[in-house]
Amino acid sequence: MTELKDLEGVGPAIAEKLQSAGYDSLERLAVATTGELMEAAEVGTRVATKVINAARGSVNMGYEKASEVMERRKHLGYISTGSPALDKIIGGGAETQGIVEVFGEFGSGKSQIAHQLCVNVQLPPEQGGLGGKVIYIDTENTFRPERIAQMARAAGIDPEQVLDNIYIARAHTTDHQMLLAEKVQEMVKEDDVKLVVVDSLTALFRTEYCGRGALAERQQKLGRHIAVLHKIAELNDLAVFVTNQVQSRPDMFFGDPTKPIGGHVLGHAMTARIYLRKSKANTRVAKLVDHPGLPPESATFQITEAGIKD
Ligand code: GTP
Ligand code: MG
Repeated sequence: MTELKDLEGVGPAIAEKLQSAGYDSLERLAVATTGELMEAAEVGTRVATKVINAARGSVNMGYEKASEVMERRKHLGYISTGSPALDKIIGGGAETQGIVEVFGEFGSGKSQIAHQLCVNVQLPPEQGGLGGKVIYIDTENTFRPERIAQMARAAGIDPEQVLDNIYIARAHTTDHQMLLAEKVQEMVKEDDVKLVVVDSLTALFRTEYCGRGALAERQQKLGRHIAVLHKIAELNDLAVFVTNQVQSRPDMFFGDPTKPIGGHVLGHAMTARIYLRKSKANTRVAKLVDHPGLPPESATFQITEAGIKD
């Protein structure tokens, strides 16, 4: 395969600049935008355009046969949520190369599922994991290592080890959150990360951009953030799991008067979108919505001391 420095128009100096800005593969360069590259690697428009075009030329970015896509999808990894019923409605668990979104009101279990996935991804494949590490972007300060330890013990694995394999960052603003997501690409090079969690994806966006006037800008920025998460998932064959709040819809008299923040722009970018509802005691009902290839089925699961269970 062609190396970065062998690309036409890229000397060793530029190659190093690109590398230190995190553009360490041709694929990563090929999907970059000129503006993004200019800013990150401090190069001019001409160089950025040239480099991107050269990378695009040397990486296969065109069409492929459906049979090839099918073949690649056979190798997708799945992380169990802990509940076989929930896994089943989303096609076998949280899938690599994609983004799973859960939305629901407070206490519906979004963060609990995120915690459970952090433990389960570290299990071997025969136990529903991928033997990989985790990057967790926490925007609400609700990550609890104690809960992870409790779930790890219940799964029969060493809590210390499990906690060692989870990298946490607290995001305070949307800019910070987006930066942390971009940083993931550098971190995954050194470690075998198989899961990236963003809890919550939308909370900071919601507080920073309030009111109708700010909506377009918010959506655009959120769209960019999701595009970065998609790239990370695809390039590194890892799963991204994000949580989202609901907003109430006073205009709705029948049915469930809530809908996820971010609207359809967000929904269509997700591989699986799950709506969580509280039921009796510890029971929760999950419904798959907006999935490109699976029926909108529901599953019931419980939040127990040991974690997420059927
Ligand atoms: P917000 O972030 O506030 O929007 O809510 P969320 O959807 O993230 O809720 P979360 O996942 O934090 O769920 C909280 C619920 O999980 C609590 O109301 C409890 O019912 C349950 N829960 C949390 N920890 C435990 C535990 O150790 N044992 C049991 N049995 N249930 C727990
Ligand atoms: Mg939460």
